[in-house]
Amino acid sequence: MTKVLVLGANGAIARLVRDDLKTQTDIQLTLFLRNAERLNDVDASREKVIDGDALDQTAIDNAMVGQDIVYANLGGKADQAAANIVASMQKNHVKRLIFITSLGIYDEVPGKFGEWNNQMIGQSLEPYRQAANIIENSPLDYTILRPAWLTNKNEVDYETTQKGESFKGTEVSRKSVATYLVSLINEPSVDTRASVGLDKPGSEGNKPSFY
Ligand SMILES: NC(=O)c1ccc[n+]([C@@H]2O[C@H](COP(=O)([O-])OP(=O)(O)OC[C@H]3O[C@@H](n4cnc5c(N)ncnc54)[C@H](OP(=O)(O)O)[C@@H]3O)[C@@H](O)[C@H]2O)c1
Repeated sequence: MTKVLVLGANGAIARLVRDDLKTQTDIQLTLFLRNAERLNDVDASREKVIDGDALDQTAIDNAMVGQDIVYANLGGKADQAAANIVASMQKNHVKRLIFITSLGIYDEVPGKFGEWNNQMIGQSLEPYRQAANIIENSPLDYTILRPAWLTNKNEVDYETTQKGESFKGTEVSRKSVATYLVSLINEPSVDTRASVGLDKPGSEGNKPSFY
């Protein structure tokens, strides 16, 4: 039975992924988060909850034992977390990593939207840039996700771009990102050693529609 470690398990996308994995698969989940009392409906037959901080190497090391796939849904100091995760995966011979960052980490967003995006979030992208660099320089089978601006729309509608291609679109629903993530967890050989942009087809513009 596949075992997936979810880091940042109370994140909005992580919660959608958890729900989908529980209804669509028999995967065993380890849900790692700060303030774990926030999680409810824990199914003890297939879910283990760990209260921890991704910046705590020992906590990550302990959570890593016996995992097949690591899915990191972390904000904040993503660079330090990435360093901990990569080190721990190598120690524990866990190969498959899925790690969410953001559009814009490679200055891959073209045109006026790219300029606007850089003004809005350019500063806060640095930890994600560093995290991507750490992951790409590791021997792991990684997929780095770079979602567009996130919405809570109840829709699954997305397209992907690969590293080296210009980013398309301005927005994408969390539900779409979760759907892509679940597809990767179900087919772990897809998009390995890849950094994938996610956007909603036709959402090109100078800003996301809700801004
Ligand atoms: N908003 C956008 O338009 C946009 C666009 C592209 C990418 N992104 C990125 O996509 C990521 C996923 O989106 P989302 O909606 O799921 O975000 P989210 O709800 O903010 O989830 C991020 C999670 O990271 C956790 N976290 C941060 N540092 C941690 C640490 N050191 N240890 C453990 N957990 C930690 C947070 O935990 P706590 O709950 O304990 O704080 C939070 O639950 C976000 O991190 C965001 O930066 C966002």
